[in-house]
Amino acid sequence: MNDIRKDFPILETGVVYLDSAATSLRPRQVVDAEREYYEVYNANIERGVYELSERASEEYELAHEKVAKLLGVKREEIVFTKNTTEAINLIALGLEWENGDNIVTTLVEHHSNYLPWLRIGERYGVEVRKVRPKEDGTFELSDFEKVIDEKTKIVAVNHVSNVLGTVSPLEEIVEIAHKKGALVLADGAQSAPHLKVNLKEIGVDFFAASGHKMLGPTGTGVLYIKEDHFDLFHPPFLGGGVIEAVYEDSYTLTHPFERFEAGTPNIAGGIGLGVAAEYLMKVGLERIEEHERKLTGMLIEGLLSLGATVFGPHDPEKKTGVVPFEVPGMPPHQVAMLLWEMGKIAVRSGLHCAHPLHRYILKRDRGTVRASFYLYSTEEDVEVLLSTLKDLMG
Ligand SMILES: Cc1ncc(COP(=O)(O)O)c(C=O)c1O
Repeated sequence: MNDIRKDFPILETGVVYLDSAATSLRPRQVVDAEREYYEVYNANIERGVYELSERASEEYELAHEKVAKLLGVKREEIVFTKNTTEAINLIALGLEWENGDNIVTTLVEHHSNYLPWLRIGERYGVEVRKVRPKEDGTFELSDFEKVIDEKTKIVAVNHVSNVLGTVSPLEEIVEIAHKKGALVLADGAQSAPHLKVNLKEIGVDFFAASGHKMLGPTGTGVLYIKEDHFDLFHPPFLGGGVIEAVYEDSYTLTHPFERFEAGTPNIAGGIGLGVAAEYLMKVGLERIEEHERKLTGMLIEGLLSLGATVFGPHDPEKKTGVVPFEVPGMPPHQVAMLLWEMGKIAVRSGLHCAHPLHRYILKRDRGTVRASFYLYSTEEDVEVLLSTLKDLMG
């Protein structure tokens, strides 16, 4: 663990960083890879025939390959985006919608996997059906069976809740949806960084994740498109990079992944994301999962013994390292501000871009305080958080 922490120089400033669900820290190796691109082989990709451009193109393609390996899919199936939000919007805007179609989503979702579907609903007269979770964020599979039918075009569901850490039964949802001929998009922003994810085994059609939550640079994200669906929709953005040939009145598209990455992409960021994927594979997702589970168990137990309310499942086996809580009588933002002032502890507070979940399920209009872990988090971090909270509540 100490070796890992040495790769994250920001930890030397003394910050107790418990906000990795918002954005992770980045190891030195990722920053170095970005710097090397700018300082040694800066050039645009897929355009030049000189050595620098060829190297930049190769490194950028290799980065797709590394991310594909991490997720258990093929290189062509991985599209780099700006973030999860852009990845989901690409699918929502790209699919063809007909009056009478319906979309199934849930009330747990981050706004990024909710608003794009509401807009499609409004624009095309498509019904948006919402599955309601239980208070701990878990679902009854029968609720999906009830709402998914032959007219369901897509089921858009998160893999792991950004508020509760609850893991959705994705394989079962995929099975129910596919039986009715519906596509499945999983929002993997909170799963890809923390769990061993094999998309071929899960069987989803689309999967979105944020590079910046999985040790990659900010401004990076991932969209997985199952190869059977490359021609299912037209890329919403057109321009340089996406075409094979252009004529006066027509054009033909190039192959994936380039087809879905219009214009000059975030080259340095993409290369850094590849290094992040490599870093995660080297440490091992199983080890990260186990490490976070241990810290999660410790924190939940400590919070409950202090008299705080803990949301989501209390069993760490049923979730990732995201722990939302409430200090009785204190607004979440006040708790977060005091934690920073008293202990240089960074946590997130508020509604976590999940208004429907807080409003209708948790019934907490002011939100919650959320501590979240990653591979560089330590037992000492948990102890500092708990002792600072004790002083704050005292
Ligand atoms: C579950 C989930 N979905 C989507 C997002 C949006 O991610 P981004 O801001 O990288 O687009 C987040 C970010 O917190 C998230 O946790």
